Amino acid sequence: MGRAVVGGVVLAVLLSLSSCKKEAKEKEMVEETVKEEESPTDVKVEPTVAYAFLMGGENSAQSSGIAWFEEADDGKTRIRVRVDGLPAGEYAVHVHERGDCSDDNFESAGGHFNPDNKKHGAPDAEERHAGDLGNIKVEEDGLGEMELWSDKLRVKVSDYSVVNRAVIVHEKPDDFKSQPSGNAGSRIMCGVVKYTTVDEETLFPDLEEVRRVRKLSEGLSEEEMEKLDEEQLDELSRGVH
Ligand code: CU
Ligand code: ZN
Repeated sequence: MGRAVVGGVVLAVLLSLSSCKKEAKEKEMVEETVKEEESPTDVKVEPTVAYAFLMGGENSAQSSGIAWFEEADDGKTRIRVRVDGLPAGEYAVHVHERGDCSDDNFESAGGHFNPDNKKHGAPDAEERHAGDLGNIKVEEDGLGEMELWSDKLRVKVSDYSVVNRAVIVHEKPDDFKSQPSGNAGSRIMCGVVKYTTVDEETLFPDLEEVRRVRKLSEGLSEEEMEKLDEEQLDELSRGVH
């Protein structure tokens, strides 16, 4: 295992540790709330937050990512995507119509999500597929993040909902012109969008913090990394050692 890989493993452990704690806490809070608020009327709140865990395909198995969708009160949807483990460069990101990543090359996800039957385009163009999200820029350390608002995609149940559709990252940037899909090449990452109650901070730990932890772990050998216990990992993540 190379050091970058070891760093990734430590990061994954750190992330899963913090999310476990958070989930347990959330469960407690939910149970308390249920006890307090038992009433005859069963009020159901429609979920407004969804996410997709992106996995790398055959030729990009080392990569991973997360997409986050949150519908605001005015019906616009905030979108965040973070990827890790890709070579530096720009990559097209789209919502594709079918939430099916079962193919090795992710062809199972179908074409771009296009409920208005428009042509392919840039994320800020009037003529575009609802699923056209633009390009994500990945830095030298393999990390990249993008954020945008969409007035076409929704989270709540509707013809425009992203839930049960697929987020796809392509091997090349989107040229925003070529039809039907921006000449972005093959599909290298895929994830199915699902409703979630996990909070944004858990899914998107501060990017600078992620970079800092990675840098710290780079100075350690594989053996040293394996000897670290939970407390030391925690310290490492806070930079106290
Ligand atoms: Cu695509
Ligand atoms: Zn498109």
